[in-house]
Amino acid sequence: MDERFITLEYKDDALYLLDQRVLPNEQVTFICKDYREVEFAIRDMVVRGAPAIGAVAAYGVLLAAKELAPIHAKLGRKEFRKELGSACDFLDASRPTAVNLHWALQRMLRRLDGADWKSMDEILDGLKREADAIRSEDIATNKAMSRIGNEIVPPKATILTHCNTGALATAGWGTALGVIKEAFYSGKDIFVYADETRPRLQGARLTAWELTQAGIPSKLIADSVAATLIRDRKIDLVILGGDRVAANGDVCNKIGTFMLSALCKLYGVPFYSVVPVSTIDFSITSGAEIPIEERDASEVTSPTGVPVAPEGMAVYNPAFDVTPHEHITGIITERGIIYPPFDMHIAHLRSEYEGR
Ligand code: MRU
Repeated sequence: MDERFITLEYKDDALYLLDQRVLPNEQVTFICKDYREVEFAIRDMVVRGAPAIGAVAAYGVLLAAKELAPIHAKLGRKEFRKELGSACDFLDASRPTAVNLHWALQRMLRRLDGADWKSMDEILDGLKREADAIRSEDIATNKAMSRIGNEIVPPKATILTHCNTGALATAGWGTALGVIKEAFYSGKDIFVYADETRPRLQGARLTAWELTQAGIPSKLIADSVAATLIRDRKIDLVILGGDRVAANGDVCNKIGTFMLSALCKLYGVPFYSVVPVSTIDFSITSGAEIPIEERDASEVTSPTGVPVAPEGMAVYNPAFDVTPHEHITGIITERGIIYPPFDMHIAHLRSEYEGR
């Protein structure tokens, strides 16, 4: 079954986004007509989730190229390329942690640099095709990961998940939530506990919405309930996403993931991260090298717009944390499941992936 909503869509020279800031109470479309609006949409989390922001950024490059077309006409290809590079740097700085953003921008620039275009129309057509390919490949990748990931889900399972990894976090279908949906639709007896995921409440607002739409039996829990459920053997496995995976298998994901992984390690509960290969940053040796985004204090002091802390209270608000590879049972990708030793298997995957 497919979703009843579209996360991102490019039409009529604009990018249409389902505004995730106001879900589930309102379904509002946020329209980006230029790349600055795309940058805002990523930074302000109109759209979020590693694969989704990659696909959105790709369309941001297309919008930037359209805007810079007069430069191509007046000053030529070199100047146009320079300006487009600056627009990409601007988009790249919108959120620092998820590598898919950088990956998609680089892919768009490689497409531009890799052909001898005859005209601006050809360039725009080529960039549109590339952005469309990033979007549709993401959906196909998610479906492949779901089928592969379903193999590790027992016929009857209680699954804990964190943050939102569904169709909203991707171009469609989802990563970890994709595996959960696949398991459910293939007839397995699935029950899901969804962490509310403070401070942005992606679990409460977005995952709960997607689980309800899919008809998957589930309960929403405060993040701090997870420890008791894991200790009391009420969770068969934890499945969640990832924003950047290092070459040694360390997984950077939504804040709170590390805590869950430590509990799973302590109590012997299988812990899986589901990521497309585009989320693996082969250039970094460990999670220590991943830049962790710190977000505004207001996310913690007034999570829904209503203050819950004294005015002026200082806040520490990292949006992500790093789970050491020793805590991870397996990393599910569209190329198969990566098991320990992660460094060796990721190096092998890299040679296959880059040798394509
Ligand atoms: O801050 P967010 O909402 O962009 O964080 C999202 C996550 O941490 C997801 O788990 C991750 O991007 C994987 S989603 C397919």
